[in-house]
Parts: sequence; structure tokens; C-alpha cells
Amino acid sequence: MVTPENSMKWQPLEPQPGQLDFRAADALVAFAQAHDQRIRGHTLVWHNQLPPWLVPTSATLDDAALAALLQQHIAAEVGHFRGAVYAWDVVNEPFNDDGSWRPSLWYTRLGRDYVAQALSWAHAADPDAKLYINDYNIEALGPKSDALYALVAELQARGVPLDGVGVQAHLASQYPFPATLEANLQRFADLGLDVAITEADVRLPLPADAAALAQQAAYFGRLGRACASQPRCVSFSVWGFTDAHSWVPGTFAGQGAATPFDASLQPKPAYAALQAAFAAGAPVQTP
Ligand code: XIL
Repeated sequence: MVTPENSMKWQPLEPQPGQLDFRAADALVAFAQAHDQRIRGHTLVWHNQLPPWLVPTSATLDDAALAALLQQHIAAEVGHFRGAVYAWDVVNEPFNDDGSWRPSLWYTRLGRDYVAQALSWAHAADPDAKLYINDYNIEALGPKSDALYALVAELQARGVPLDGVGVQAHLASQYPFPATLEANLQRFADLGLDVAITEADVRLPLPADAAALAQQAAYFGRLGRACASQPRCVSFSVWGFTDAHSWVPGTFAGQGAATPFDASLQPKPAYAALQAAFAAGAPVQTP
């Protein structure tokens, strides 16, 4: 399974208004299809990586026109990849860490129902694609995952198309492992939703020593076992292929070495831990 790290985001896709550039994303889709891999489409509605023209343009539009612009974006992108994308991260990162709504352009202008509208528009453009809401810091039980849980339950009750919850799983060695991950995945599964680990990495202070790599392996192993032992956990994706292609050093100063492969494409202890987790598929021991 392949996720485009950037090429399906709005900014690279529509650098000038009305001029869609699908070349990079099409190339990735062609590669995936040639290698019998599924695509996770990422992402349609987000507060980051919007085209530079969009925010100034939005200021000239009334709310209905802004909603129409978002609908057009979703229809064009999902329509372009209709049948080729297994699952879409339709809405990315809608909540703050305390469970309140993130004051994005979309929430501020369109209100909380932008989520339901986006899901419905995506469904209309590709009725067979699995539709997700994706977020970070929702691994454990807590205010942010509670807010998402309440939202998805409400959307289901209203009959809004929604298939899954994407748990990004950007972990860090300086924080404890999210110990209630299994219970949290289970409550979403109990709603009849798929869950997926969508952007796993475990960042380490640099330079990473053997102890840090061992802790990272333990974290990846627990993530892998949590997914493998949850029947509704349908996929496990790492964010960045090797430490040479990871967003972490550019985003978190002094941190890195966050993926299961080092910069020379050599497997790290985390690789073996994931391999063992997927081979076993066994229920996770309580910590
Ligand atoms: C990151 C990419 O990895 C970077 O290359 C880009 O500069 C910024 O975005 N959560 C997400 C991803 O959903 O889209 C982000 O990807 C990482 C955090």
C-alpha cells in the first residue's frame, strides 16, 4: 500500500487556480498499480498545504461560494482517481489536542458540517472508495480521540458516508507509549468502522544510540501488534520511506531516525519488531 506524502495535497495539485497538475500523483498511482499496491489518497480537506491563492481568494467569496469551491476540489480530485484509490483521508486533522475544533479556514467559514459535506461529496465522486477522517494524537483514549469518537458516531447516525478512522501514530521516544491504543481502536471498531495506522513513525533525539533504537523498536512492535490483533485494523503505513526520506528532521529540531530503515536503507531494530508483530498477530500484553 502506498500513500503519497505530498502529491495529492491541494497545494501541489492546483498551484494556480483552475490549473490542476496530476503528473506527480499519476506517476505514483502508475507505480503502485504496476506493483500490485493499493493507494491511500491523502488528503482532500486540511488546514495545511493549501495553495497560496486559496486563502486570499476565500476572502472574496461568501460562505456558499467557498463551499462550492471545496466541493469542486473534491469532485475533481476524487473523480480523477476514481477506481484507483482504495481509501481517502477525506478530512485531515479536524481537532485540537483538547478536543475542540481546530479553527481552520473550513471550520471558521463553513462550520462543523464541513466534515459531513466533504464526506458526501467524496462519496458522490467515487462511491467505492473507503472514506476516512485522519488525525494525530488520537492513539490513546483522551479528549481528542473522544471528540473524534463523538463526531464519527454522530455522522453514522445521520447516515453520512464514512468507512474508517486513520490514526496517524507520530510517536516520540520522549513520551510514553499510548497505553490505551488497543481499547481506543476497539471502540472505533465497535462502531463498525475500519481503523488504520496511517503515518507511523517514532522520532528519536539525534544522534540515536542503541538504547533509543531499542525503545523505538518496542514502540513500533506495540503499534504493529495493536493493529495486527485488531480485526478492523486494515492497514499499517509508515510515514517516510527510510530515515533519508522522513519529515521529522525538518519539522522537529534535533530529532530524527524515525522510520524502520536507516538512511542507507538498512533495516533497524524497529523493522524486526514490526515483522514479528505482523507474523504473530497476537493480542498485545498489558504493559
Ligand atoms: C508532511 C510531509 O511529510 C512533509 O513533506 C510536508 O512538508 C508537510 O507535511 N500529518 C500529515 C502529513 O497528515 O500530511 C504530514 O506530512 C505530516 C503530519
